[in-house]
Amino acid sequence: MKVPLFDVTRQYHELRDEILHVVDEVLGSGRYIMGPNVEDFERQMSSYIGVKHAIGVANGSDALYIAVRSLGISEGDFVVTTAFSFFATASCITRNGAIPIFVDIDPKTFNIDLDRVEEVLRHHPQREKIKAVIPVHLFGRTVDLERLEKMRSDFGVKIIEDCAQSVGSYWIYSNGKIKKSGSVGDLSTLSFFPTKNLGACGDGGMILTSDDQLADFCRIFRVHGARKKYFHEIEGVNSRLDELQAAILRVKLKYLERYHEKRIKIAKTYDELLKSLDLECVETPQAHDDLRCIFHQYVIRVKKNHRDSLKQYLSAKGVETAVYYPLGLHQQRCFSQFKFQPLENTERACEEVLALPIFPELSETEIEYVVKCIDEYFKEARRC
Ligand SMILES: Cc1ncc(COP(=O)(O)O)c(C=O)c1O
Repeated sequence: MKVPLFDVTRQYHELRDEILHVVDEVLGSGRYIMGPNVEDFERQMSSYIGVKHAIGVANGSDALYIAVRSLGISEGDFVVTTAFSFFATASCITRNGAIPIFVDIDPKTFNIDLDRVEEVLRHHPQREKIKAVIPVHLFGRTVDLERLEKMRSDFGVKIIEDCAQSVGSYWIYSNGKIKKSGSVGDLSTLSFFPTKNLGACGDGGMILTSDDQLADFCRIFRVHGARKKYFHEIEGVNSRLDELQAAILRVKLKYLERYHEKRIKIAKTYDELLKSLDLECVETPQAHDDLRCIFHQYVIRVKKNHRDSLKQYLSAKGVETAVYYPLGLHQQRCFSQFKFQPLENTERACEEVLALPIFPELSETEIEYVVKCIDEYFKEARRC
């Protein structure tokens, strides 16, 4: 049996008629840039997340870059973020001339450790130059939003939520209130990369904010800084969400909650099957009752140096897996001029994490096969 890590074609075949219909509509309309689909999709997304403004851009990396830019962050400024994330979480800081301060993760959640963020905000020698914190809701798991809000008011720091992997995840506050990731940051960003929970058939991204001024900046920055065509107020870029992608995303948004539920069910099945094997070397994602994780990825920890050999074994059995991420951002060569301190929890995670196949159309038989292969690996080798 072959089990792909992710298969975008299964969703396409399910939605083929609807998608081809809207693609044909857009092509026939002649409105290919900034048309009614972008406008309507922006409206729907702002209401889905619970913010005032949603601004479509070309991809999630640009969304982050523009969000940092909109806060006026530039040379000499510092931004606190996690080292356990995709490259764009940090490059949005350095591309604006600022310096990232990487903070270690909580080993249980893989998310940025908010205790350590607070330590940095309190004690960093140049703390007055720290302008923002960028938490990432990694693998679809929400960072404590209640605490983020408190941190902002306690320290007067701006928050940019990187929600590339978390569209639709939420946090349950101590008073029972529910807020979605992306609704709390001064700005938040989304990616519609095809394998994301809400994935386009190409690139796409979005900036979310409830601040009118920041929204205005982002709206004109994405069209060369011009409110009126050919009259440039700021030196912006060309970063627009494509009309065709917006039309396809509008179709997929209708099914997003159903897709989340399917992923959550798949994660539960993995949890149950893996726990029943009682493997000492395998740790499943931490259980939670204060949040909804939308399982963009289902990531296990494989201990005692078994990760790479298990990955190889699974590959030989036709099971595709991935390592997100093999290196911390503080270890990347392109950031070597910054001379970061080692980050123990991040580096251990890089050695132990293994993402198993997960996407809404994954079948029960496929999940069972993945777990059976994991069981076989440890049995065959009499390890663990
Ligand atoms: C956490 C995180 N941030 C930012 C991005 C960048 O998004 P994009 O690929 O749309 O530029 C990604 C995409 O993989 C991501 O996972």
